[in-house]
Amino acid sequence: MLIDVITLFPEYYKSPLDVSILKIAIETGLIEIELHDFRSFSKGKHRQVDDSPYGGGPGMVLMLQPIVDCLEELIDRRLKEDYQRTRLILLTCDGKTFNQETACKLSNEEHIILVSGHYEGFDSRLTQLFPFEEISIGNYVLSGGEAASLVVIESIAREIPGVLGNPESAQAESFRHGLLDHSSFTRPPDFRGLKVPDVLQGGNHKLIDEWRLKESIRKTIKKRPDLLNSDQLDEKSQKIVDEIKKELE
Ligand code: ADE
Repeated sequence: MLIDVITLFPEYYKSPLDVSILKIAIETGLIEIELHDFRSFSKGKHRQVDDSPYGGGPGMVLMLQPIVDCLEELIDRRLKEDYQRTRLILLTCDGKTFNQETACKLSNEEHIILVSGHYEGFDSRLTQLFPFEEISIGNYVLSGGEAASLVVIESIAREIPGVLGNPESAQAESFRHGLLDHSSFTRPPDFRGLKVPDVLQGGNHKLIDEWRLKESIRKTIKKRPDLLNSDQLDEKSQKIVDEIKKELE
């Protein structure tokens, strides 16, 4: 998968892309990431990219010329204007909230373009010029889309087959089927009187799977009841949900 990232701060990405899973995904060629600094497209004096907002007010607004020229050059080079071959994504508070389902869908694409704004964001006409999907990573304001685009990149990368060593670890984790992941434990079996459940030490994998499913449902009911959606649960899980809810009554 090829990810083009358009930003004013390419250096922001250097260290996150150079550690752990993203580093390996890039080194093994499962993901290719190209950073593009749209400041280099500015035709303004001193490579200016922002200006004060019409109507007054604090902050600066990103001008259209540098980002539009950057996008047009990239789209022309990569796609010859065939937008069907990419997903053009703008990171912004205005966007649809990012979630695991979107991460999974994006991980099936061959190419995506992520555009990170900064300051007070882009001149609003930008979204009339290109067929953007707008994505927010949550209801809070960041100084720019850089951290948000890294969140998107990391969650997509984890879904690409081969990126995580064990394919089952991607499958089993939180949010799949709308449930949190089960609790996990490692050695020692007793830490200051806090014990690892016996079933996990018994080696019976059928019982372990059952315990984990129950635990995952119990945890979701307790911590994130908002996630529970009966449409996503199979019959067995729904039965456990009903049992645990009854227990908790
Ligand atoms: N830019 C600023 N805040 C953001 C957010 N919450 N999500 C995506 N992009 C942003």
